[in-house]
Amino acid sequence: MTLSRKQLEAHWMPFTGNRQFKDNPRLMASAKGAYYTDTEGREIFDGLSGLWTCGAGHGREEITAAVSRQMAELDYSPGFQYGHALSFELANKVVELTPSGLDYVFFTDSGSEAIDTALKMARGYWRTLGRPGKTKFIGRMKGYHGVNYGGVGVGGIAFNRKLFGETVDADHISHTLLEENKFSRGMPEVGAHLADELEQLVLLHDASNIAALIVEPLSGTAGVLPPPKGYLNRLREICDKHEILLIFDEVITGFGRMGSMTAAEEFAVTPDIMTLAKQITNGTVPLGAVVVGAEIYSTFMHKGGDDYMVEFPHGYTYSGHPVACAAALATLDILQNDKLLDRVKAMAPVLETAVHGLRESALVTDIRNYGLAAGISLAHCPGQPLKRPFEVGLKCLEKGFYVRWGADTIQLAPPFIADEEQIHGLVNAVAESLDELD
Ligand SMILES: Cc1ncc(COP(=O)(O)O)c(C=O)c1O
Repeated sequence: MTLSRKQLEAHWMPFTGNRQFKDNPRLMASAKGAYYTDTEGREIFDGLSGLWTCGAGHGREEITAAVSRQMAELDYSPGFQYGHALSFELANKVVELTPSGLDYVFFTDSGSEAIDTALKMARGYWRTLGRPGKTKFIGRMKGYHGVNYGGVGVGGIAFNRKLFGETVDADHISHTLLEENKFSRGMPEVGAHLADELEQLVLLHDASNIAALIVEPLSGTAGVLPPPKGYLNRLREICDKHEILLIFDEVITGFGRMGSMTAAEEFAVTPDIMTLAKQITNGTVPLGAVVVGAEIYSTFMHKGGDDYMVEFPHGYTYSGHPVACAAALATLDILQNDKLLDRVKAMAPVLETAVHGLRESALVTDIRNYGLAAGISLAHCPGQPLKRPFEVGLKCLEKGFYVRWGADTIQLAPPFIADEEQIHGLVNAVAESLDELD
């Protein structure tokens, strides 16, 4: 179905150049496996697994069947003061798949909601313990934690913040994109020392005022920045030393993308709070989650007043929605039954070798990768740092490949089911697009 310019007008699209899009619409019509089909009938390889969501591939019949069954059986159930079995089943499954010490799961509808929930949990935890001064958050430059007020405040992407003014009280440590690490494969060698900046911020603000540090263990939106060796361990040590909660935003890394279920497992550092979203339902139905340890949960329970009282005054109408839970349980079964983590591990070196081949291009200034994720930084067009990635993205699309562009980077995150040939095809499309622009 094609839409006229007039029909395209009413929808104010998210994170989209609306004017450019509506003059040049890019409309998907269907999807199966690793491919979309657009409204012109062209097959397009899904080089970002949707938005880092659809690692198990599109059109998974197991998920469709679970969702349809659930819709017919229990389409909605009130999440406040009432429950249904699937959200408990899913919480147990999430606990099983996340590192030990993370034992309680709060459901949200998106990554952004998971972040704001995590931030409220952190502040509420300290207040409940009689330490109300601990309200400040520390984020990291270039960090992306969604678009709600808390997430924007702790986030470190200027473009996402500057229109909206002050949100939460937050300071930031430096990002880990270092000159000496350019073209690193996997975890960069240099950069653990950057974690020590947290000590500086503790000196400045005092730990008695700091609730939590939030980082993406691997920064996705900034253009795939794997953590330098030893960096996350150092953050963990400093947080422990000063009684600052450590939040890992695993909205992208959560469930499989790194080759382990979580980045915490892959990098062997366990946070106090973990947020999850994108891959949990394979992108089919919105769902997010916040996972915490027993200490946080039991603090709320013990200080919650009489047992009929609500211990944490927070939740969403759709928290733990039965259809989303059905989709998530089916997705997590697929990840395990199809051994998709093994596939990510097997294909990661293929992506790494292929993507680092792009170094030959004069327009490429840096390349980074880990698991099935890669980021390619491009030389800026004079005065227009965002333009070249946009042009590369459109050129890839002409060749039948969907990639994401953001800031001065191209991001690749093929589905876990992608094979060698498809990964080479994807990287070749980027190479040819760069050649055409050079
Ligand atoms: C690390 C991270 N956190 C949070 C979010 C926000 O998730 P959502 O778009 O589902 O609100 C994203 C989305 O890209 C993300 O990458």
